[in-house]
Amino acid sequence: MIKIIKNILRPLFIEIEIWNIHIGNALIACLPASPFLNLIKKTILVARGAKIGKRVFIYPGVFIDYPKNMVIGDDAVLSRGVTITTGGGVYIGKRVLIGYSTKILSADHRIPESHKEPIRFSGHIYGKIEIQDDVWICANCVITKGCSVGRGSVIASGGVVTKDIPEFVLAGGVPAKIIKSRSNR
Ligand SMILES: CC(C)(COP(=O)(O)OP(=O)(O)OC[C@H]1O[C@@H](n2cnc3c(N)ncnc32)[C@H](O)[C@@H]1OP(=O)(O)O)[C@@H](O)C(=O)NCCC(=O)NCCS
Repeated sequence: MIKIIKNILRPLFIEIEIWNIHIGNALIACLPASPFLNLIKKTILVARGAKIGKRVFIYPGVFIDYPKNMVIGDDAVLSRGVTITTGGGVYIGKRVLIGYSTKILSADHRIPESHKEPIRFSGHIYGKIEIQDDVWICANCVITKGCSVGRGSVIASGGVVTKDIPEFVLAGGVPAKIIKSRSNR
């Protein structure tokens, strides 16, 4: 009897949880960015387990799947169209700028050794992404799982980060490589 009730209730709770997350995501994606509306977005994210600093600016079209395992520091900006997956954990430092349509992807599908095993059912691989203070990720970049971007660095538009990027450099390309150091003058 208990098993039957569990079998009925479990999918129902999962359904409610999914709706709960997606209604929050829909609000974050459609509300304009203003100081007041950003407070509402922050409240939605914090209620779902994220840690969000002060004056974080979130533009419309941002999609976060889902806000658990995510820290965003004070004065960070998420531009229109940014996508973040948080399965592996995502840390975004203070004053970080994330440019239009950039993807921060902390989870991959596992690619099985054997081609007979479908990727679809092979599970995931996770890795924490850390973007330190004062970084600028330009438009249309991809940050892959397990990578970090050091303090004050810039990832030029279209860059795909597959390895750690040190602090105070300009990096870009696919895969992203150091283009030059930033002057310390
Ligand atoms: C990063 C960026 C600002 C350039 O900074 P910069 O310090 O002025 O760099 P430069 O233009 O002097 O270029 C330095 C080198 O990087 C290369 N480079 C510039 N942008 C690049 C890019 N997106 N990908 C790969 N290489 C790039 C240049 O060709 C140049 O190479 P070279 O030394 O062999 O000639 C710029 O390239 C960029 O990505 N702009 C997009 C900004 C954006 O996304 N705006 C939206 C706001 S969210």
